[in-house]
Amino acid sequence: MATDFIPFVPLPFVPPQHLPAWVALGAHARRLAPRPLATLFTTEPARAERLSLALSDSGVRNLIADFSKQKIDAAALSSLLQLAREARLDVGMRRLFAGDRLNFTEGRAAAHMAMRGACPAPDTQGADTSAPRAFAAALRAGEIKGSSGKTIRHVINIGIGGSDLGPRLAVDALKDPADDPHLPHVDFVANIDPRELAAVLAHADAAATLFIISSKSFGTAETLANAEAARAWLQSGGQTDSGAHFAAVSNAVDAASHFGVRPERVFPLPEWVGGRFSVWSAIGLPLLIAIGEAAFDDFLAGARALDEHFATAPFERNLPVWLGLIGLWNTDFLAIDSLAMLPYAHGLRHFPAWLQQLEMESNGKRTLRDGSPSAVPTAPIVWGGAGTVGQHAFHQLLYQGTRTVALDFIVPVGADEPRQRALVDNALAQAAALMVGRSLDAARDSLHRRGLPEAEVERLAPHLCSAGNQPGTTILLPRLDAFHLGALLALYEHKIFVQGWIWGINPFDQYGVELGKDMARVLAAGKAGEQDASTARLVKLAQGFRQAAFKP
Ligand code: F6P
Repeated sequence: MATDFIPFVPLPFVPPQHLPAWVALGAHARRLAPRPLATLFTTEPARAERLSLALSDSGVRNLIADFSKQKIDAAALSSLLQLAREARLDVGMRRLFAGDRLNFTEGRAAAHMAMRGACPAPDTQGADTSAPRAFAAALRAGEIKGSSGKTIRHVINIGIGGSDLGPRLAVDALKDPADDPHLPHVDFVANIDPRELAAVLAHADAAATLFIISSKSFGTAETLANAEAARAWLQSGGQTDSGAHFAAVSNAVDAASHFGVRPERVFPLPEWVGGRFSVWSAIGLPLLIAIGEAAFDDFLAGARALDEHFATAPFERNLPVWLGLIGLWNTDFLAIDSLAMLPYAHGLRHFPAWLQQLEMESNGKRTLRDGSPSAVPTAPIVWGGAGTVGQHAFHQLLYQGTRTVALDFIVPVGADEPRQRALVDNALAQAAALMVGRSLDAARDSLHRRGLPEAEVERLAPHLCSAGNQPGTTILLPRLDAFHLGALLALYEHKIFVQGWIWGINPFDQYGVELGKDMARVLAAGKAGEQDASTARLVKLAQGFRQAAFKP
């Protein structure tokens, strides 16, 4: 049963810019702004150690974050920690872990940590994952058959946003290509663009395919349209009992059953788990199928280790607190409005997209707890891509463009093997080069070494300069496995909570997204004429293209 709306009991809320530490931070920013990043190492020789935090003191299950390439020093960090204290982040964290209804606009808790056993569940509805686990185990064992009796070997998850990005990232990161070829292959389809489903179906055998309709609401237009298309494809492939080829992860059990999913194959999730925090719940079904229960439990264990650290470590040694505070420092005090996520692992190539939803759908807001507008910038623009691929594309702008961009390097160290070592070396080299840059003198030296005449050296040197000073955080993991991926995702989940709490934002709703959905419905209803002249005209032009394309 869905929990009833119970209003959030607000704390007296002070917008962050009215807290005393905010003023001190402004002074630190003015002091540090003109300092080249690399010179901070001269005045603080021990900053590499002092500005690093680890999840644990020892052991191979660890995660280390080096913040020393950020434009911050001990004094500024101390004021940031003071800001967290003045904003009563401790109270926010206690309320989060106690299952308080911090999602105050929807009257819900945000207790996704309960799915990994790190706090009590506010209620039990949807929290038990034994049914999706059993279903995944049966699929892996080859016990689930299609309508013609053929074993299901191909699972296609149809979902979007939080019902796609987390499982897609985790399956890509953790599925071992060398796994038993008899295990089901897992694919993902999110876009309503027919090409995405068509591309996956091109290699599919209808008799051996099962679709998971993953939608907490079972009301998302893209997902429902793709589910209908999947059913039509099954029928055209001769699978008359399409119910044998569907499962669903949804809280709208009736709607899913009405669509044709057998009720025992509709797996709910708790209302207190938001879409972008839901990979730990039944939404993780594709991951359970791809990696099995033991690895999934390790994934939860990694996240739980981070939860426990977040809940218990003092702010002075707390990874998500630092990650959140330093992100806020960059946004609000150094006016850096963009965060590039640079994972150095092919298996993390979907991480930037996952983080985009997490940060931008959570804290991409301006209305504060007391209903007033934020007077300070909130979530940055998050983008990025996997290294080393991005080095040969967008890194040019980071080196020589006109913007300062905050950089998060994620570096799973992995095997002691030449290409893997080169991957790690590249990550560390990029973080260093983007911090240090290249001066005019260094550019001249490099041209002299090429033996160019002096006039050419002078002409070309400015073009080889790089301002450097791109602030970076480097997160080092021993390897990319289930435990460390779980820890990494939980680290960023808590980061956005830290920031949302201090800014005074509710990170757990997404009313903005609804506006675009409403407009799509207006256009689908043929009411474009009632819209602005540009939109009305574009709709007409699109109709023209459509008709021309379908002329016999
Ligand atoms: O459109 C945004 C959103 O509401 C996300 O927050 C959510 O993860 C996604 O749509 C999918 O929602 P559902 O699981 O209900 O289909």
